[in-house]
Amino acid sequence: METKDFLKKFKGFSVQDFEDLTYAMIKPDAVSAKNEIIRDIKSRGFGILFQHEYQFSKELAENFYSEHKGKGFYDRLVDQMTAGPVVVLILKKKGIIPCYQLWRDELGATNPANAIEGTLRNTYTQKLFGGPEAYAEGRATNCFHGADSVASVIRESNLVLYDIAMS
Ligand code: CMP
Repeated sequence: METKDFLKKFKGFSVQDFEDLTYAMIKPDAVSAKNEIIRDIKSRGFGILFQHEYQFSKELAENFYSEHKGKGFYDRLVDQMTAGPVVVLILKKKGIIPCYQLWRDELGATNPANAIEGTLRNTYTQKLFGGPEAYAEGRATNCFHGADSVASVIRESNLVLYDIAMS
C-alpha cells in the first residue's frame, strides 16, 4: 500500500487499534536478509500492514531515539541507523497481550547475547554476524527495533510515516 493511502487509514486508528499493532524496523545491517526475515515474521503470526524501505536522515534518527540522547551509545546508534536504509514495518497481531509486547517477545533481549535461542535477535545476529559479540563490540546492531509501549507505537509510527510522506 502507498504511504499516503496507508496514512489516510492510519489517521482513523483508535487507541484500541494501536493495541493490536506495533512499529518495528529491520535495521540497516540486517536489511540484506530482509526477504528471509519477512517470511520469518509472517510465520510467527504477524500480519504486515505497512512495509517500506527508507533511508533515515540524521535528524530523523536523532528525533526517533531522542530518549537516549546523552547516553554513551547514542552517537553510534544514530550512525548505525543512518548507515543504509531500514525496513519500516507496521505489524498486526491480535491477542490478550498488546502487539508491541508480542513483537518484543519474538525479538528477545536488547543485547543479543541475552536473547534466547529462537528469538529474532538471537537467530539473525548468529546468521549475519556469527554471534552476538559484534553487537557488544559496537560493530553491529541488534538487527531489529520494536516499540516499547502503546504510546511509543503511536509516537514512532507517526514520526516515521509523516517523514516518509513528506519526503
Ligand atoms: P532498539 O530496540 O532500537 O531501541 C533502542 C536502541 O538503543 C536499542 O535497540 C539498541 O540498539 C540501543 N541500545 C540500548 N541500550 C544499549 C546499550 N547499553 N549499549 C548499546 N546500545 C544500546
